[in-house]
Amino acid sequence: MKKIAVLVSGGGSNLQAIIDAVKAGDLNVTIACVGADNPNAGGLTRAREAGIPTFVTDYRALYNSYAQGAMPPADFSLEEVFEKQGLVKAESSEKVKGFLERRALAEADLLNELSFFDVDLLVLAGFMRVLTPYFIDRFNGGASLPRIMNIHPALLPSFPGTDGYGDTFGYGCKVGGCTVHFVDYGEDSGPIIGQAAFSIGPEDDLATVKRHGLAEEWKLYPECIRLYSEGRLNMGERGGRKVVEVVA
Ligand code: GAR
Repeated sequence: MKKIAVLVSGGGSNLQAIIDAVKAGDLNVTIACVGADNPNAGGLTRAREAGIPTFVTDYRALYNSYAQGAMPPADFSLEEVFEKQGLVKAESSEKVKGFLERRALAEADLLNELSFFDVDLLVLAGFMRVLTPYFIDRFNGGASLPRIMNIHPALLPSFPGTDGYGDTFGYGCKVGGCTVHFVDYGEDSGPIIGQAAFSIGPEDDLATVKRHGLAEEWKLYPECIRLYSEGRLNMGERGGRKVVEVVA
């Protein structure tokens, strides 16, 4: 049986949907652990109530320790991250250097915590931190199928970023949705695994859009994890772009 880890930052309603799907026998995986980037994430309580081990990689505390002189991990190379993300040249920005170095400090802690559980798949469920190539490559470990999944509250590639439903509603879209995708170096840009859509009518406001969207997320995420657990996801290519092919 596949082992998964789930990372949360907030309330964890998607985590709950995954826990419930496992309990109901609809999803045949072991949730080995739940991690959070802050000690107050509501998802931690949901995990504890379900008897799942938890850990916290406290990003804020680690960023403070960086400000006080803690060094990035010894195997972190700024040049490597710049090159992989196609960012500005290393020497051109102290700000970006600090951003990436303190993030690597947190990501090294995350990798260490996760190493105790030896999971096949990492599931980001409302984890509001960008993962850098430092983490992504070490976690993927050269596997042909990526090993990090994310759920995003919009129909990607429209509306990446932190407020998918807000951006969808604010744009006046008549259809909203959510997307599960593998994580790559870009912002919400990785290969799409599954999507669900819902209509937005004149009676809707931002609150109802969020409610409809979350209800779709709770069905979509367990379904996509199930496809992974059944070995039904393959990487393919269309027009030079990496895509996910779902085996029937
Ligand atoms: C969900 O809507 C999820 O799509 C979104 O955060 C919410 C978490 O809710 N994720 C992102 O915006 C990621 N960039 P939850 O904590 O109740 O599962």
